[in-house]
Amino acid sequence: MSKTYPYPIARIGLIGGGQLGRMLVKAAKQLGCTTVVLDPLPDSPAGQIATRQIVGGYHDADKIRELATDCDVLTFELENIDADTLAELEAEGHAIYPKAGALKIVQDKLTQKQFLADNGIPTAPFEAVDRPTPEQFSAFGYPLVQKVRRGGYDGRGVAILKRPEAFAQHLPVPSLIERFIEADKEVAVLVARNTKGEVATYPPVEMCFRPGENVLDLLLAPADIDEAIQAEAEAIAINTVESLRGVGIFGIELFVTRDGEVLVNEIAPRTHNSGHHTIEANVTDQFEQHLRAILGLPLGSTETLSPAAMLNLLGAPEESGRPVIRGLEETLAIPGVCLHLYGKGETRPFRKMGHITVLDQDRHRARAKALQVRDTIEIGAEEIA
Ligand SMILES: Nc1ncnc2c1ncn2[C@@H]1O[C@H](COP(=O)(O)OP(=O)(O)OP(=O)(O)O)[C@@H](O)[C@H]1O
Ligand SMILES: [Mg+2]
Repeated sequence: MSKTYPYPIARIGLIGGGQLGRMLVKAAKQLGCTTVVLDPLPDSPAGQIATRQIVGGYHDADKIRELATDCDVLTFELENIDADTLAELEAEGHAIYPKAGALKIVQDKLTQKQFLADNGIPTAPFEAVDRPTPEQFSAFGYPLVQKVRRGGYDGRGVAILKRPEAFAQHLPVPSLIERFIEADKEVAVLVARNTKGEVATYPPVEMCFRPGENVLDLLLAPADIDEAIQAEAEAIAINTVESLRGVGIFGIELFVTRDGEVLVNEIAPRTHNSGHHTIEANVTDQFEQHLRAILGLPLGSTETLSPAAMLNLLGAPEESGRPVIRGLEETLAIPGVCLHLYGKGETRPFRKMGHITVLDQDRHRARAKALQVRDTIEIGAEEIA
């Protein structure tokens, strides 16, 4: 006889109430789970639709404990959280995925790079930096990329320094420097690994960045790369997650160089911005897949149903306050456009307010429509009369 599950099938505790959390909560409901979200912002995007929200910080040991006590399985939607408390809870027998050990390696970019190097996973050469000096940077050689060890996201915490004169723009904190990679493409592979060690990957997606901002601008799925590189990217991504003994979904960001070399840029131990399109474009989306993985359920099919282009909707520059959506009707009139708004009560310049996924059997047309949406929709702020 196969195992009988209670209903709801599990109570999921989620650290982080942002958009990734919101989409996870939605998937949890569909799968018959309840959710409790921990986030400092009352009525957070995920908290709005969860069964309950605990208001508290990501480093608040007492609130994390309360969350663990209230749930069957604990997970997170961001990596800058209190991993020591998670390790303690794990030792006390709480189910937490990904495990605290894996999170600790990944949440510090230096230990993450060391982990990659120690496991023979290809990545850009790097060096640890305690206190940045022009001498160390010059000895390492330009162009280089400096990254803060902890707490960076969306390109904040990354400085691309092309020549010695650029040293003035360095980040004055414990960090690492790595070789600047002349990438032909940046791709991401989502890998799911469940508690039983079963693994599934999604086809690589191509990430396009807005020049100068390092913020993901447009994403194309599947990536336009040849089969050998696709296979290589998937194999490296699987190797990374298996070496980490990761449980859950992981976003593995990779560089593909002009001569076809594939290097790991970084590991995200959680659902990833590059997987939003899977909600409409794949049989099982990344959020449901994450839940299946951490609950020890069979992983779902990752098959692509349609090519897709995904665009983050960022708050308009120089506008802050209660959001207003301009160009909504024109956007929704474009065939194949799926709109997601995250429920954020306030917009700020370049804040992630939502995204759109465009489905089209023709990849190029999907991309063209996404670019059309970029010129059509705008999330600005209400004018105060
Ligand atoms: N070694 C490198 N060579 C060339 N470009 C790089 C390198 N490292 C990072 N970059 C560029 O900077 C971007 C941001 O770097 P990274 O992914 O490490 O930072 P992040 O702040 O964690 O970003 P995010 O949260 O957006 O994933 C990369 O996507 C890439 O475009
Ligand atoms: Mg990144």
